[in-house]
Amino acid sequence: MAERRQLVAGNWKMNGMRADGLALARGVAARASRPHRCDLLVCPPATLIAAVGEALAGSPVALGGQDCHEAASGAFTGDISAEMLRDAGCTHVILGHSERRHGRGESDADVHAKVIAAWRAGLIAIVCVGETRAEREAGRAVAVVTGQIAGSVPAGADAAKLVIAYEPVWAIGTGLTPTTLDIIEIHAAIRAHIPGGTRILYGGSVNPRNAAEILALPEVDGGLIGGASLKADDFWAIAAAAQ
Ligand code: 13P
Repeated sequence: MAERRQLVAGNWKMNGMRADGLALARGVAARASRPHRCDLLVCPPATLIAAVGEALAGSPVALGGQDCHEAASGAFTGDISAEMLRDAGCTHVILGHSERRHGRGESDADVHAKVIAAWRAGLIAIVCVGETRAEREAGRAVAVVTGQIAGSVPAGADAAKLVIAYEPVWAIGTGLTPTTLDIIEIHAAIRAHIPGGTRILYGGSVNPRNAAEILALPEVDGGLIGGASLKADDFWAIAAAAQ
């Protein structure tokens, strides 16, 4: 684990007008000017990517998108390509978030195509996987998550361009988290299916109170943070808990 530097990433989702987003980005950048032990990333909504990028300039905080289209350009109203994210200053893109898999009907094949697009554009793909409550209760969590990895991660993956985020659907935005043993079990199962050195983040109701315990678990290489990433103090408290 020592060779995998932890990554603490904020997924702002569909939150933030220009003023709030800039204040948040400046708050994170100011705190990150002090020495820190992990890599840091924020993924604002598309409308704020360019402005947040300017606010983060000179800081160690990286910039990411929350989704991309598989094509580089074309007649796809409302979509954004990986190349556009890269052009706007992004180095990362979140793909296959449960709010897209379950909310927008994205399949493993869709995510697979988007990961190829991200790599084509030179972006690091953060591929999200996670079981629903019903799948966990049916004892299928490991099978679901490893199946999503098999279907979503293209051949040719390596640790320099891939990050996995384990986000149980039922833990997102609910205040619920798996037991530490359950997180360890799933991360170990994922580890067996991805290239050596690839970071595996945990996401789902991470907050300043539970971050230290979760981030200290074996095979947990950081966190993907939703609600708590919208307050600079909370996001920084989680980053400070990184190993
Ligand atoms: P919460 O931290 O709000 O539960 O969201 C997690 C998440 O979906 C990050 O991508």
